[in-house]
Amino acid sequence: MAVSVTRRLTATFGAELSGIDIGGHADAEAIQAVQSAWSEHKLLLFREQSTDEAALVDFSRKFGELEIHVRTEYLSPDHPEILYVSNITRDGRRIGILADTEVGWHYDQIYLPRPAVGSLLCAVILPPSGGNTEFADMAAAYAALPADIKSTLAGKRAIQSYEAFNRAYSVPTSEEQKRRTPDIEQPLVRTHPVTGTRALYLCPGMTTRIVGMDERASREMLDFLFEWTVRPEFVYSHTWRQGDCLMWDNACTMHRRDPFDQGHQRLMKRTTILPSPDVAVPV
Ligand SMILES: [Fe+2]
Repeated sequence: MAVSVTRRLTATFGAELSGIDIGGHADAEAIQAVQSAWSEHKLLLFREQSTDEAALVDFSRKFGELEIHVRTEYLSPDHPEILYVSNITRDGRRIGILADTEVGWHYDQIYLPRPAVGSLLCAVILPPSGGNTEFADMAAAYAALPADIKSTLAGKRAIQSYEAFNRAYSVPTSEEQKRRTPDIEQPLVRTHPVTGTRALYLCPGMTTRIVGMDERASREMLDFLFEWTVRPEFVYSHTWRQGDCLMWDNACTMHRRDPFDQGHQRLMKRTTILPSPDVAVPV
């Protein structure tokens, strides 16, 4: 069956695709169709997928090299390319990251010099309600900004902090992990490595300061932008079904998660897709 878009998720971004079977064989034509839909729609939904780990890894690898996440304590024991996002405890130890609380808006790995270009996140075990994942279209949010704000942001850079995110939403990193994830600067507006589209590259969870602005002006601008980017017209909220997989463009969308009842289990499996070396550094 040919890959096709069956539904747009919002007016500006997101599409549900049919004709994809992650557990089966995806030929070169199907992968090419997904690749171009990914660039065009920024967020793809595949329903009723097998969440077999070897298949998730094989499929994800078609789109780039896979990263072994810095939080090695939450990787799949059989496939280290897969990160568990879960509140499940086994043998007295949490198997996944981010448990059951709210997870604030963030770009995955904005704190790394060569951040992932995308992720594939699949729902394996779900609570009866809660745990929705929301995405914001940061290209649409940038395009709609008033011209004077765009010119203020031109050429600016901002500090991105994984530590700030962990303090608010996660558990502390080890000393070794801290050494691998120091605060870094990134461009505040980035150019998409494939489409050339400009997008706001900041997020409430990790962006702490605009470089070259005084503290107060930086805070005011960030607060304005944080509010602006999550206006309803830029946001899609996904209510998960078991077997759903979402693949997002991590160069022009950010995401967050709702909390859910800690009395229920939730297990999501994620692969992290790296950019090709020639477009690895955000500009
Ligand atoms: Fe994330």
